[in-house]
Amino acid sequence: MSCLHKVFFLSQFLLSIVSVSCLIETLKQNLGGDPSLFPSNFLFGTASSSYQFEGAFLNDGKGLNNWDVFSHEPGNIRDGSTGDIAVDHYHRYLEDIDLMVSLGVNSYRFSISWARILPEGRFGEVNAAGIDYYNKLIDALVLKGLEPFVTLTHFDIPQELEDTFGGWLSPKLQEEFRYYADICFKTFGDRVKYWVTFNEPNIQVTAGYRSGSYPPSRCSSSYGNCTYGDSEKEPFVAAHNIILSHATVVDIYRRQYQEKQGGSIGIVLHAKWIEPFSNSTADKLAADRAQSFFMNWFLDPIIFGRYPEEMNTILGSILPEFSCNDRKKLNKALDFIGINHYTSLYAQDCIFSLCEPGKGASRTEGFCRQTPEKDGVSIGESTALAWLHVYPQGMEKMVTYVKERYSGIPMFITENGYVDENDPNSTIEEFLYDVKRVEYMAAYLDALSTAVRKGADVRGYFAWSLLDNFEWTYGYTKRFGLHHVDYGTLKRTPKLSATWYKLFIARYSLVKTLIVKEQ
Ligand code: BGC
Repeated sequence: MSCLHKVFFLSQFLLSIVSVSCLIETLKQNLGGDPSLFPSNFLFGTASSSYQFEGAFLNDGKGLNNWDVFSHEPGNIRDGSTGDIAVDHYHRYLEDIDLMVSLGVNSYRFSISWARILPEGRFGEVNAAGIDYYNKLIDALVLKGLEPFVTLTHFDIPQELEDTFGGWLSPKLQEEFRYYADICFKTFGDRVKYWVTFNEPNIQVTAGYRSGSYPPSRCSSSYGNCTYGDSEKEPFVAAHNIILSHATVVDIYRRQYQEKQGGSIGIVLHAKWIEPFSNSTADKLAADRAQSFFMNWFLDPIIFGRYPEEMNTILGSILPEFSCNDRKKLNKALDFIGINHYTSLYAQDCIFSLCEPGKGASRTEGFCRQTPEKDGVSIGESTALAWLHVYPQGMEKMVTYVKERYSGIPMFITENGYVDENDPNSTIEEFLYDVKRVEYMAAYLDALSTAVRKGADVRGYFAWSLLDNFEWTYGYTKRFGLHHVDYGTLKRTPKLSATWYKLFIARYSLVKTLIVKEQ
């Protein structure tokens, strides 16, 4: 008997012995958050990305992508690893779908590897085997009642596009992306109802073109260790091309596919909450500026057709301009906003006060220093990643901020999760007993349910991640999964957090069933 069946029979039995409202109240308590606050068609899922999960980097006609090349260069990945095999999702997706079914989730967020579909971009052949793989994955998900939530590019692009055009620095990538997205809509859009154009372009361009820590490793010498680049200019050029590529693709989806296929399309931003460092007006303005120079940098043009005012004032002619034609496409060019929220920081003004050089203090980040610490005290408990501090209140504040700034555009929490160190001295039991992850998820979901109760239109939550996986420049040294992966055997084992998430979702389903019964 499936878990949902058990829950159903249990609810029928309980209904016969206690009053429904009393039972709902009981179920609302404990386990963190009030799941009844989430709407009845809410998507609960887990998230992944092609480079971090699939492996099979040279199988069945796939071309090399920028991360394949970057991870093979010595010194780029902490443990010297690559995503060549990753967690072998390419061959094990059926087993992984069974894990999702066991969690009771109703959706799965994954990304398509562009180089698996178009190994050489627009001027090469479409790789039939790549199409076949995603068809099989999508069919298997649909068969199990899981809604595919698909990202077109999650940091990876065919290396050919990097070599021929210089990647996102070239406006030609807009046409490349349009061509690729069109193939995806045409081929998979009958079954895919949620499309994301880009995952976290704000991280992609700052890591790729400001600090140079991600491919294409471009930066100025004062920002990182790169051979080429201009950290004060290139992030804005790459971002501009990404924003226009997004708008172009949304335009073709809306004109050619949306009505027939009945789906929706959005973009996902890395969204950290930023608290002012002090009560001073200057620090409050600095916190606003920090958001504008990071998240609103992309959302404002896509929704309002212009860059945030603070960016115009500080950057002047460094910021590329939108033509009249661009602005026509950039009028509310999305159906939903995807929020990847993990953590929060403080921002301190560096216009009126002298800041020590450091993160965020430059003009390119709006003259505000960002720090997780104030008076020697951290904003929240630290984790295995220096940037990730536990601050659940940030979830409610972030979602409320997006709701207010963008006038109630629907939102999805497309990623949220907790990281452990892959300590070689830890036992498997220690990895599996991930109490900290459970506490993190319970607290963040609680904060999310408060935002929903206060009117935020949030339509889904995706835990990062289904499995431990390749954590970019940290390789396999960090673990984000609800399931532990043994990197020797690739065996998956549910952690305590998987059981907790399953109970949370089952409790949500039960409460929803009871509420319907009571009406
Ligand atoms: C990215 C994921 C990444 C996660 C944890 C997000 O920035 O979308 O790919 O693994 O955060 O760092």
